[in-house]
Amino acid sequence: MLMMTNDKKVAIVTGSSSGIGNAIVLELARNNFITYGTMRNLDKISDLKTIADQENLKIYFKQLDVTDDNSVKNAINSIVEETGRIDVLVNNAGYGLVGAFEDLSLDEVQKQFETNVFGVIRVTQAVLPTMRKQESGIIVNISSGAGRFGYPTASAYVSSKFALEGLTESMSYEIEPFGIRTVLIEPGVIKTNFFNSMSLARKSKDPDSPYLQMMQVMEKSVTKMLEKGTIPQYVAKTVLEAVTSKNPKLRYLVGKDVEQWIENKKKMSDEEFHDMMALLG
Ligand SMILES: NC(=O)c1ccc[n+]([C@@H]2O[C@H](COP(=O)([O-])OP(=O)(O)OC[C@H]3O[C@@H](n4cnc5c(N)ncnc54)[C@H](OP(=O)(O)O)[C@@H]3O)[C@@H](O)[C@H]2O)c1
Repeated sequence: MLMMTNDKKVAIVTGSSSGIGNAIVLELARNNFITYGTMRNLDKISDLKTIADQENLKIYFKQLDVTDDNSVKNAINSIVEETGRIDVLVNNAGYGLVGAFEDLSLDEVQKQFETNVFGVIRVTQAVLPTMRKQESGIIVNISSGAGRFGYPTASAYVSSKFALEGLTESMSYEIEPFGIRTVLIEPGVIKTNFFNSMSLARKSKDPDSPYLQMMQVMEKSVTKMLEKGTIPQYVAKTVLEAVTSKNPKLRYLVGKDVEQWIENKKKMSDEEFHDMMALLG
């Protein structure tokens, strides 16, 4: 073991080169966690590294592409070699694929799941043996309001987050007896690069797509929602609350918008909720 952790907890965050992941790394490091900011491209560490140096924060960096078996294995093994333990894993890396269902190619949907679902499985399975041996730990999966309800032109992204919800909920029963907790963070619209980095289905770019008008309406509606979006630091604060809680909840909503959607979903019949969402597209 290379590092004395002195009872400090060790946290790993995936996809920390920007947005929510970046904010979570800073929040955990500022609250005494030895924090590993992992990212697929280490050329992007500069922002975090500058702040870490200025504030003397214990942030370490590792290359980790959630879609690459070797990259995941190497990163997790080297963290365990350095610290001997892992207390927190935040599965944050993800992106959105946009396009009407009929316009999606199977390849595009598979890539979406490769990152948002199989990426989480890959990293979590690499971390669990260490948490199980130490009989403690917490897995935090960054889901979305899109893990609780569907909406137009996002069936690939929504289904990846629904899969994440089912995976997390089921896994919790199995790993709780070993002292490991699981948490789902469900943000609403958060002001990050997410919307600029979205992948647009190739067929959606075709001006003859029968769904062109629906795509344009949705784009406008998302731009409007973004104006009222929540800053990523709120998501980070919620993650801190969950990982420092003695008894973390399974689900945490982040943002007034998603709180309102879920409130509506509880109050409305499926048909009423469907009619309200249909107005968006
Ligand atoms: N923004 C929102 O409104 C919102 C709402 C609900 C949930 N979420 C979820 O929050 C998470 C973070 O998104 P964000 O809003 O912070 O967007 P973001 O700023 O685009 O950040 C996404 C991060 O994921 C990383 N990533 C993508 N593919 C990866 C891979 N294969 N391996 C490792 N890292 C990878 C990106 O790395 P690169 O820099 O290399 O691309 C980037 O660091 C996602 O899971 C997203 O679904 C976002």
